[in-house]
Formats: sequence, structure tokens, C-alpha cells
Amino acid sequence: MGAVVVAVSLATCFTSTALDTTLQATACSNNTYDPSMIEYAQSVEYVLDDMETVTANHPGYHYQTRAPYPTVVAYGHSWCNLTLTVMECVTCMSSARAFIKTRCPNKVVAAMILKDCAMGYSPFSL
Ligand SMILES: *[C@@H]1O[C@H](CO)[C@@H](O)[C@H](O)[C@H]1NC(C)=O
Ligand SMILES: *[C@@H]1O[C@H](CO)[C@@H](O)[C@H](O)[C@H]1NC(C)=O
Repeated sequence: MGAVVVAVSLATCFTSTALDTTLQATACSNNTYDPSMIEYAQSVEYVLDDMETVTANHPGYHYQTRAPYPTVVAYGHSWCNLTLTVMECVTCMSSARAFIKTRCPNKVVAAMILKDCAMGYSPFSL
């Protein structure tokens, strides 16, 4: 009985968060990259992984990164609303990445603005 009460209040605690991952705006380039164009595909995956893992642990919840490949490079830019907890920022980054994958698959440039965070990448510095 006690365990049920604890579980219910924990669930309430986790769902009553202020986090809002509603998609506000989407931007994709018209042009797509060929997923077999391995350098750019890897470069994009690198910055997406990097933004997803680092943004929440970066001062100011604001992060700019660049894939470390010498020739074909993607740049990434991301932020979370400072009112979020670290876990909420991580969750918001995962949602933003998922939106990029579904709304802008293999696009050369993509950016998602959610209510509480944003994430984007481009072959040019953002
Ligand atoms: C992207 O595609 C749309 C629809 O085909 C077109 O109207 C628009 O002009 C294109 N934009 C660019 C920058 O090429
Ligand atoms: C961050 O979230 C708070 C609370 O929802 C909101 O009032 C504020 O406008 C947000 N800040 C930005 C930059 O979106």
C-alpha cells in the first residue's frame, strides 16, 4: 500500500513538470544530403549526439559545437530554457532530435524550436 502511494506521488511529481516540448517552429533546407555521403551524415550525427548529451551540462544551457572532421563539417547550436532541470533539458534535447529526424530527414540544414528548447545544425557556423 505504502509503495503504491509512493509510486503514484512520484509519477505525479514527474508528470507535473513545467517542461513543454510542443513544437513551435520548424526549418529545413529544401536540399537533402545523400545518406551515403558518409562524411556529412557522420558529421550531422556527431553534432546531434553532442548537443543531446552536452547542452544540459553546459553553462547557461546554451551550446555551440562543430563536428571534428577536417573536410565536410556540420555545426550545431542548441539551448534549453534556463528554468528547466538538467533532466528536463536532456528530455527536451531528445525530443528536438526526434523532431529533426521526423520533420527534416537527411536535410542539409535543420532546426527545431520547441517551447522550452531548440536544436539545429547546418554546414555553416550558426
Ligand atoms: C523550397 O521548395 C519550395 C517548394 O517546392 C519552393 O517554393 C521554395 O522556393 C524552395 N526554396 C528554396 C530556397 O529553394
Ligand atoms: C522559460 O520558461 C519560463 C516558464 O515557462 C517562461 O516564462 C520563459 O518565457 C521561458 N524563457 C524563454 C527564453 O523561452
